[in-house]
Amino acid sequence: MTEASKTYPVQAEFAAKANLTPEKYREMYAASIADPEAFWSEHGKRLDWIKPYTIAKDVSWEASDLHVKWFADGELNVSANCIDRHLATRGDKPAFIWEGDDPADSHTVTYKQLHGAVCKFANVLKKLGVKKGDRVTIYMPMILEATYAMLACARIGAIHSIVFGGFSPEALAGRIVDCESEVLITADEGVRGGRKVPLKVNADAAAKIAKGMVKKMLVVRRTGAEVAMEEGRDVWLDEIGATVSADCPPEPMKATDPLFILYTSGSTGKPKGVLHGTGGYLVWAAMTHEYVFDLKEDDVFWCSADVGWVTGHTYIVYGPLANGATSVLFEGIPTYPDASRFWQACDKHQVTIFYTAPTAIRALMREGSGPVEKASRKSIRLLGTVGEPINPEAWEWYYHVVGEARCPIVDTWWQTETGGTMIVPLPGATDMKPGAGSHPFFGIQLELVDAEGQRLDGAADGNLLVTDSWPGQMQTVYGDHDRFLETYFSAYPGKYFTGDGCRRDEDGFYWITGRVDDVINVSGHRMGTAEVESALVSHDAVAEAAVVGYPHDVKGQGIYAYVTVRQGVVADEDLRRSLVQHVRAEIGPIASPDLIQFAPGLPKTRSGKIMRRILRKIAENEFSNLGDTSTLADPEVVHDLVENRQNRG
Ligand code: WTA
Repeated sequence: MTEASKTYPVQAEFAAKANLTPEKYREMYAASIADPEAFWSEHGKRLDWIKPYTIAKDVSWEASDLHVKWFADGELNVSANCIDRHLATRGDKPAFIWEGDDPADSHTVTYKQLHGAVCKFANVLKKLGVKKGDRVTIYMPMILEATYAMLACARIGAIHSIVFGGFSPEALAGRIVDCESEVLITADEGVRGGRKVPLKVNADAAAKIAKGMVKKMLVVRRTGAEVAMEEGRDVWLDEIGATVSADCPPEPMKATDPLFILYTSGSTGKPKGVLHGTGGYLVWAAMTHEYVFDLKEDDVFWCSADVGWVTGHTYIVYGPLANGATSVLFEGIPTYPDASRFWQACDKHQVTIFYTAPTAIRALMREGSGPVEKASRKSIRLLGTVGEPINPEAWEWYYHVVGEARCPIVDTWWQTETGGTMIVPLPGATDMKPGAGSHPFFGIQLELVDAEGQRLDGAADGNLLVTDSWPGQMQTVYGDHDRFLETYFSAYPGKYFTGDGCRRDEDGFYWITGRVDDVINVSGHRMGTAEVESALVSHDAVAEAAVVGYPHDVKGQGIYAYVTVRQGVVADEDLRRSLVQHVRAEIGPIASPDLIQFAPGLPKTRSGKIMRRILRKIAENEFSNLGDTSTLADPEVVHDLVENRQNRG
């Protein structure tokens, strides 16, 4: 806990040039809460509107009338906002820098070139019969065509649904069928970490499972591999692309028209199609991108996510392009050809802002500082993280080793549902506490409640709610408005339930403690699994840890810890004892793990999220029915976990 209470001021040199000061943040935040209508009417103007809106916010979270409509009577086009309006002033500025899987492979696309490519792509979609409102599924590697496909959909008013290229045919088919998408865009193969990913083969299998739903398949050549093409259904992008013009006027869209669907897993049931709209989403993406990352005209911004996740949507494509920024698109993985890759690429492209996930940071931390120090990293001025609570130890490593204590870290808390960042230590506006999400972004009103829904004031620990809408809020669950109501507004009527637990400290900083479904109750004490994990990970021997609850006769729930040790460490009884001691010392005896299982790897989704559902089942000795493991990056790890389970009672 000593680490966790540390405070770092933003470096004076950074603060002197920052877009925000503490005063400006306070002023803008107060204005955004005092009069949201006035605040967002003003900030909506950052976009180009074909027809200006007269009302910013038209939202009700009441069960009888649930609707989320921002800038409802305005009209705009997202692709025109991301491309066309920059042409006069930034035509020759790089929109994207593509860094291939092979470090020798990279390519820059200017805003002018992007315009041509997207217009052509849009005309290809039209030629394939795609119309406004149609759903188009994108199953692509991290290549430029993935972004052209997104922006082309936006240009003609089609709704894209990106399915991460690591998903199985089964998962892809389920998503295609759910949104009745007749067009699928894919590539012959993807390339990641030197390995080929058989996308077209998977797409064919998915189309088969989806039983005739897929009418057209548009295929991009990435590796030139020979793939089967089905007559009448499949077309190569380069062939059809040669037959269309590069002139495609943007379609005027209502601000509330859908922009995209993105499937995300809930704690129960099949993935839900989170639906985002046009105007509100883009205002939020652009504004958060500018303030969270202290954006300047000459920045080179690198978000290392995949476009298959919301982070890629908002902070590789829509936010940066709406701001006329230069965005890096990376095809590979952090450890290929070696653990120095991120930092080498930062040097190569003179990246100024780097944004990644704690899981990547921990993986690299395991390799020590050597690979980091192989690169200069002098261009980097700001670091960011997203996706899960970052344990203070990883934060410190990121801060001191990667950023050489020069660069502030923005720990951005948000969700697929929120469209963009919601809680963040805005750089220049606040001090940093390692591991703290810190403060709400403009317009975000937070509330902590106890299990009974009673509001908690001051320093407190509870369930995190948002009490009023923000422009980036999802509009509904595609095709299932009842599920939208049920999932987010039924636990605490009239308020948005995030599903996360959160602590507000005595200084008013917010600390996300992890999903509430992961909170455990030990002898009547509520504990964030993230807190125990953080303690474990701060032990020298530990690379990664995941903690779940399991039924315990005396305590109600016991603490079950899965631990991955660092290379060269011997995982034995002595280490077990030492870890228990360490956790007791870090948090207190109530946090002592009851069972510790050493594991070579944790079950993770391909986006790096630990699948706790599986860990909980194994911890509960209920491993015969682990449910769907198809989304795991490496399904093999599960066998080892079951073999070596510690609870056999
Ligand atoms: C978690 C990713 C702590 C949280 C953008 C949330 C975080 C879920 C952070 C959403 C963070 C995301 N600190 N926890 N900075 N960022 N989370 O939909 O539990 O993939 O509810 O969106 O990730 O995950 P999603």
